[in-house]
Amino acid sequence: MARKETLDKLPMKGRRVLVRVDFNVPLDDNGNVTDDRRIRMALPTIKCAIDAGARLILMSHLGRPDGQRKPEFSMKPTAVRLAELLGKDVKFAPDCIGPEVEKTALALKNGEVMVLENLRFHAGEEKNDPKFCEALRKLADLYVNDAFGTAHRKHASTYGVPALMPKGTRAIGFLIEKELKFLGDALQKPQRPFVAVLGGVKVSDKIGVIENLLGKCDRLLIGGAMAYVFMVARGQKVGKSRVEREITKKDGTRKDIIALAAKLLDKIKASKAEVLFPVDHLVAKAFAADAETDVQGPEMEDGWIGLDIGPDTRNLYCEKLADARTVIWNGPMGVFEMAPFAEGSVELCKAMADVAKRGGTVVVGGGDTAAAVEKFGFAEKMTHISTGGGASLEFLEGKPFETIEILDNA
Ligand code: 3PG
Ligand code: MG
Repeated sequence: MARKETLDKLPMKGRRVLVRVDFNVPLDDNGNVTDDRRIRMALPTIKCAIDAGARLILMSHLGRPDGQRKPEFSMKPTAVRLAELLGKDVKFAPDCIGPEVEKTALALKNGEVMVLENLRFHAGEEKNDPKFCEALRKLADLYVNDAFGTAHRKHASTYGVPALMPKGTRAIGFLIEKELKFLGDALQKPQRPFVAVLGGVKVSDKIGVIENLLGKCDRLLIGGAMAYVFMVARGQKVGKSRVEREITKKDGTRKDIIALAAKLLDKIKASKAEVLFPVDHLVAKAFAADAETDVQGPEMEDGWIGLDIGPDTRNLYCEKLADARTVIWNGPMGVFEMAPFAEGSVELCKAMADVAKRGGTVVVGGGDTAAAVEKFGFAEKMTHISTGGGASLEFLEGKPFETIEILDNA
């Protein structure tokens, strides 16, 4: 992808700058933001616009309200949190389009900030509906996209709006710039050895990632419940473990994941990368923190559930990380939310922090993995933690992001 213009090059003073951020953050039952990382990561862009004297309009989605106005998905708590982080007043608009919002946008003074209500309260957002795009576009003189987590969605706010705007008015923010640099450099010019660590429950959303990484990394370490899918594909016993055997696609058709995993095993055999699977597992009698546990491997016995990688696997994987210069990690090694099954993820986390400490690059991708690193207290020790879940996976698959491509080149 060509290098993209960043917002600091736009003439922002006194102009209404519409910024797409990804404030899709978790809320508790009282509507408080429980993890504000995505908001904090957007601060450099927001502060740059404020300092330049922009009239800042921030827009985002939160959750999946499916085109309906559902109060539990309001953006209001994110505006409250942003105001705390900025130490300054942040206005909140009760909708994202319409005459009232337009009036408030026009009344903004230089350096003032407004957060719009959830874009997905309107069905037009996800449909990239021309009328909805036009209504949003009306609010702005300039457009900035800093929503890396939503960069794989071709929606009104990420694609339709910038498509309506002239050249010279559309830039990326500093978060997208940073994400593209760390994820892009790891894929395109990694220092070697380049080790990828993949885990989590699902194989279906990582097939493309594995295929793409096989041609790029030196070693691939596989853990989490996704390893059990490969075991089943090989005819190995996995007891009562959770295994993604099949998925139903949006159009209702079914996909046999075991068959896909079997094909992937052939590709793994043919590739030059060293691909490792768990040699042992921490298993339990039940899916509970106080359940009876055992270490079994390489296969599991009837009646047991695999919940983490075993101690031999842990040591083996840490050895394979010891001389790494570049690491990409996506997906925990076990059910880290329960302390007895967190050790695999914790130990690998430590080994990766050591890689970063020695000057190597460690990039952690999205969602659950970011939450795990944060929970274990290693967030500051990694080189970069992506704000993208699905987006970071699609990036690692090598898929192009049209939402970024449409913005102005530097
Ligand atoms: C995410 O959290 O993955 C992004 O905010 C995108 O949300 P979505 O998966 O609902 O499109
Ligand atoms: Mg998602």
